[in-house]
Amino acid sequence: MAVEPTLRSWEALFAERTRGGAGEGLLQILAMAGAKDVISFAGGFPDPVTFPGPALAEILRELAERSDASPFQYSPTEGLPGPRDYVADRLERVDGRRPDEGELMLTSGAVEAMELVGKAFLDRGDRVLVEAPTYLGAIMAFQSFEAVVEGVPLDEDGLAVDELERALASGPAPKLLYTIPDFQNPAGVSLSAERREALVELARRHGILVLEDVAYRELSFADERPPSLWSLAPEIVVQAGTFSKTFFPGVRLGWAAGPAEVVSKLVWAKQNTDQCAGALGQRLLEEYGRRGHLDEGLVRARALYRSRRDAMMAALERHVDGASWTRSEGGFFTWLELPFGVDAVAAAGRALEAGVAVVPGPPFFAAGGGERYVRLSFSRADEAEIDEGIRRLGPLLS
Ligand SMILES: Cc1ncc(COP(=O)(O)O)c(C=O)c1O
Repeated sequence: MAVEPTLRSWEALFAERTRGGAGEGLLQILAMAGAKDVISFAGGFPDPVTFPGPALAEILRELAERSDASPFQYSPTEGLPGPRDYVADRLERVDGRRPDEGELMLTSGAVEAMELVGKAFLDRGDRVLVEAPTYLGAIMAFQSFEAVVEGVPLDEDGLAVDELERALASGPAPKLLYTIPDFQNPAGVSLSAERREALVELARRHGILVLEDVAYRELSFADERPPSLWSLAPEIVVQAGTFSKTFFPGVRLGWAAGPAEVVSKLVWAKQNTDQCAGALGQRLLEEYGRRGHLDEGLVRARALYRSRRDAMMAALERHVDGASWTRSEGGFFTWLELPFGVDAVAAAGRALEAGVAVVPGPPFFAAGGGERYVRLSFSRADEAEIDEGIRRLGPLLS
């Protein structure tokens, strides 16, 4: 006998943690970034010209022909030993500190590291501090564990550590501070060396975990880099990193480096998330990196994004009046503050009608705000498109 379907609202069945609209913001960004016939300053996507070509095809063929089954098998949850060793070597080179045994795991991208930290640390109602503005994916990851996500302002030197001190001194003790110290998404600013010292001191004093997201750290336009928070305070910092911007995002590969006790809890959390990052991607990274291709590609990528940053700064000077913007020394983004009375969401809508995709500020704020800000990414459009796109935006942003 046929059973009549019962008409019901899925809303009534969805878990509490799915309520709240932050996810829609990300979906819109991803949709806009892929739109055709539009000059896109929207997503934080690397330019496909930076993706590996024939060298990767060669490695893939070699891996397929070898008797070693590891690229095609499940991997240990913390990652295969060879690729982990490669990432540890990189960290030693970039950050001047090599993670000890048990202090490093590979993840399916940096966003998974945030998810694992959320799963391992956050109970409903726990307070999490983030920058205001910050990466939308992080806000979503923490909110999905029903945490109370609170923004701390930033300025041209990164997170305002005096504001952080005030936030730590009031209300229930937060468990976690999430920060992007290098070429921040969306603001493009970096945390000064002095503030890095002050931040870790404060975190030590208050006994909170710092989750440091270094997504753009290796895409700097200068040779000098301030120390990572993880290298300054490895006993209280988990560093989440990604190969999405330096290798390619389709590989879905990143890392978490932190205190061994914390990393073992993240490995526990990963066992029932996806069990392990894809072994094939891990082995491709190891071989590609060990043969020097990743470093060669990075030199080209830095030059490419630097030239686009310069083109965007010049175009903004040329075409936009009354707004101000940040000048990033690395990464993908500049952050515009619009004149009073110009609404960023309405301006972004009009921009799309003019064939230019930008992201208005509100989705980057955990607890409201951002109506006068717009994020522009210079990673995907070439110099001529940047000038044309900003020329069209000029009258809409002033
Ligand atoms: C600050 C930041 N963290 C993490 C990510 C995502 O990294 P992954 O692709 O490794 O998940 C991004 C991507 O846009 C980002 O901007």
